[in-house]
Amino acid sequence: MSTHASPYAHIVGWGRYAPAGVLTNADLEKMVDTSDEWIRTRTGIRERRVAAAHETTASMAAVAARRAIAVAGLQPNDIDVILLATLSPDYWMPSTAALVKEAIGNTKAFAMDVAAACSGFVYAYSVGQAYITSGMARNVLVIGAELLTRFLDYTDRSTCILFGDGAGAIVLSAADTPGGGLGFELTTEPSGAYMIWLPAGGAKSPPSQATVERGEHYIRMDGTQTYRFATRTLASTALAAVAKAGLEPADIDLFIPHQANIRIIQSVADGLGLSMDKMFVNLDRYGNTSAASIPIALAEAVDSGRVKIGDKLVIVAFGAGYTSGAAAISWTADPARGALAESIRPEEITVRPPLDWEPVDPIPAALVEILARPGSPEPGAKAAEVHA
Ligand code: ACO
Repeated sequence: MSTHASPYAHIVGWGRYAPAGVLTNADLEKMVDTSDEWIRTRTGIRERRVAAAHETTASMAAVAARRAIAVAGLQPNDIDVILLATLSPDYWMPSTAALVKEAIGNTKAFAMDVAAACSGFVYAYSVGQAYITSGMARNVLVIGAELLTRFLDYTDRSTCILFGDGAGAIVLSAADTPGGGLGFELTTEPSGAYMIWLPAGGAKSPPSQATVERGEHYIRMDGTQTYRFATRTLASTALAAVAKAGLEPADIDLFIPHQANIRIIQSVADGLGLSMDKMFVNLDRYGNTSAASIPIALAEAVDSGRVKIGDKLVIVAFGAGYTSGAAAISWTADPARGALAESIRPEEITVRPPLDWEPVDPIPAALVEILARPGSPEPGAKAAEVHA
């Protein structure tokens, strides 16, 4: 492990992966008492991605990670630390980060998961920054990955319409020249601990037939309270990170907020006195992918030409806990490098399965038909690849 402290941790690689299965609002209309119109106007979401039976949080994370490493121009073994933010790990143990380490072909890094729900990626990013600026690491892989569609009650219209699956990753590298994360703000408010939660499966209520019969293995949420927390907190958290970076909101070229609800993003823009042009939005196509939402959005923003060298960015998230987190970032990488991610094909990356064990079918009954349809291309894939 390095002992040379560097004052800066630049983002040098970025990558994303979204599964091919698509769950549309029209599909949800057939499952619960809802409408495309209600979902679009109350949330902004049109469709979300759904992982197939062979996919897991680790497998999606590994693809996004290899893409970020390729964009950085590094080899998997150049990575010293792997941090994986998730609330939907493959197993209670080992960590999903450990599985990803093996799947990407790294033999050197130490790896761990970070649990801070939808704020998890920002929290993990701050940890990676601290490892680099303290001299404990040179290259840190930070991943946000979620497979939420297996933890939803498809009879509960207040939650099943919101969430989707996917993964995003960045590589941080030590540097002596200015750039990277300039200011961080992280908050935790346990008063909201039971406003978004998953009751069963932990030590308080281990999984059993009774917990399953009570539906306690599904995500529960008080949407109204969570909405209030988000609108109260997101702008102030972003402002604090901007101030810690010595900047003003007007200095920021692009805000990349957690993709939960278009009305929440609108209220952040209002709170900061900015127009929606400064807010990156892709929740219409992915829904809320929790800890994956910001790294997917960041990679998509860069690859779609919304970010250039020298830009100041802010990522800002809120989530269960309640947690919130924001980082003000000086972008220093050439966006054109994003094309290098195309060399990484999902079918070439595997997560080693356990010996002598087969999982039960992981696909919720409500999604069987959707996953039997032909898949859609990965968002952002080149047309030539899609039709190849
Ligand atoms: N379709 C149709 N009607 C619905 C649906 C639906 N899918 N869901 C709720 N409704 C109904 C309600 O039952 C209610 O009906 P009523 O007036 O007859 O009682 C009505 O619509 C209004 O319900 P509200 O809950 O007040 O609707 P609201 O405008 O608050 O929108 C929503 C609900 C979208 C969930 C919103 O509160 C929200 O986005 N909250 C934040 C949630 C969030 O972002 N969570 C993620 C946190 S991140 C993490 O860490 C996991």
